[in-house]
Amino acid sequence: MKAIAIDGPAGAGKSTIARKVAKELGFIYVDTGALYRTVALAVVRQPFEADETAKVVDLLQEIKVELKFVDEEQRVFLNGEDVTDEIRSPEVSMCASVVSAIPQVRSFLFQLQQDIAAKNDVIMDGRDIGTVVLPNADLKIFLTATAEDRAKRRYDQLLESGTVVDFQKLLEEIKQRDYNDSNREISPLKQAEDAILVDTSGNTLEESVSLLLELIKRHIGL
Ligand code: DC
Repeated sequence: MKAIAIDGPAGAGKSTIARKVAKELGFIYVDTGALYRTVALAVVRQPFEADETAKVVDLLQEIKVELKFVDEEQRVFLNGEDVTDEIRSPEVSMCASVVSAIPQVRSFLFQLQQDIAAKNDVIMDGRDIGTVVLPNADLKIFLTATAEDRAKRRYDQLLESGTVVDFQKLLEEIKQRDYNDSNREISPLKQAEDAILVDTSGNTLEESVSLLLELIKRHIGL
């Protein structure tokens, strides 16, 4: 099995780029952020707050998170309910950033991620794929872009799905999430030593996709 790890901050275009690259290669694209978001949604639905760690940890015993692939597209399930669309709200994004810093949440999702990679050729995107989840990945890419560039992309994405948000607020949220993700004690967002840094600022989607395909061909000879 082949594994390509793509890590990087929120909104660097990881999912859009990785999905296209995976299709091109015939790999399964795994968005691990969706798993953290699913746990976050379970928390959002509770009367307590995300920073009440003991309660979040207790809740893990009551939830089942599953990944399924329908027409090659990943769908996530929370206790059997398809929550793929619901996990995209800004509220869930913020909550995911908080709960993903809890070690028990990370270990709860760890095996699920490794199992998928053991059974399929995968492009897996997240924050700690190259450093923790798949340290032996065939290729590791650290994909980044400026915070402004990333906020603009999220803004356009949300707009496309009919959600109008305040750009400045979105930018602040992105910066806050960068800070949370990079400064947490466990599995912080960090470029693996053997990862290749790719900055997509100012690139079109097509440019980034061909850049990655080229890198992959060069490094793992597909
Ligand atoms: O990529 P995303 O925005 O959907 O990720 C949601 C949150 O989950 C984000 O705050 C970081 C966290 N995350 C993580 O800690 N580790 C991963 N492998 C993927 C996401």
